[in-house]
Amino acid sequence: MRLKDKVIIVTGSTTGIGKAIAKRCVEERAKVVLHGLEEELGLEVLEEVGTENGVFWNEDITTDTCAENLVKLALKTFGKLDAVVNNAAWVIASDIHTTDKEFFQKVMDINAISPFLLIQKALPELIKSKGCVLNIGSINAWSGEPNLLAYSVSKGALMTLTGNLGDSLMREYGVRVNQINPGWVLTERERERKKLHGLSDTWYEGLPKIFAPSGRILWPEEIAAACIFWLSDESGPVSGQVMTLEQHPMTGRNLPKDSSTIH
Ligand SMILES: NC(=O)c1ccc[n+]([C@@H]2O[C@H](COP(=O)([O-])OP(=O)(O)OC[C@H]3O[C@@H](n4cnc5c(N)ncnc54)[C@H](O)[C@@H]3O)[C@@H](O)[C@H]2O)c1
Repeated sequence: MRLKDKVIIVTGSTTGIGKAIAKRCVEERAKVVLHGLEEELGLEVLEEVGTENGVFWNEDITTDTCAENLVKLALKTFGKLDAVVNNAAWVIASDIHTTDKEFFQKVMDINAISPFLLIQKALPELIKSKGCVLNIGSINAWSGEPNLLAYSVSKGALMTLTGNLGDSLMREYGVRVNQINPGWVLTERERERKKLHGLSDTWYEGLPKIFAPSGRILWPEEIAAACIFWLSDESGPVSGQVMTLEQHPMTGRNLPKDSSTIH
């Protein structure tokens, strides 16, 4: 009951981490606006959470109307808005050779600019509810993998957005903005994505300890569990913070002697 009566928009909640966040929010007694590109999957999630607890919106996040439509739907269905989870993202591989201007702009548009525009549209309602924003970034924000160039830069921009607005919106309006940077998470899509990147069909079993010290990577439900703290009143006035969820430190790792041979 940690989110009792809160109304929360979760973008990109048709699959993976967003779906786990939305389901956990409802378990904690929130009402959710589900959103994403895949209508069939979105309606399945809606059925799982129950139509009395959720509503689904199917629109590309980069359209001129999506942010406004999401906020309007929250108000029309549940009468208020307490929180926005900016989770939708284009998780896409590219490097110095394959990242052209149009592609880079599209990645930035989906992963950094659209979250900003949704916060902007939601702000009047978040001011009324003394609500909050939770951005879902990535550990790639700190520099990122070579073959995730544009994606990593977009997550760096999102992290700066969190710091900037987490400061000003809190001070001016009492609206908190925080971020979770997940490490490697085993979602339905990630399972398939890494196969396309050349890994085996069962790549997630028996990963080297350098990537997965525990023997497995994170589950979406573990990210969702941490989100509840940031969305609930338990996190008090804390704002502008970025929480990393990975199973090793991001700097100063105690790497094994043979780590240079593991890629
Ligand atoms: N899976 C991981 O290992 C991992 C690691 C770190 C960070 N993340 C981050 O977590 C979040 C969720 O990742 P995931 O792996 O669950 O992703 P996913 O690919 O499984 O799901 C992405 C969601 O975003 C939506 N989406 C994508 N582009 C959209 C667009 N243009 N308009 C509207 N909706 C759109 C999709 O419909 C879907 O609901 C993302 O922000 C991602 O960057 C994931």
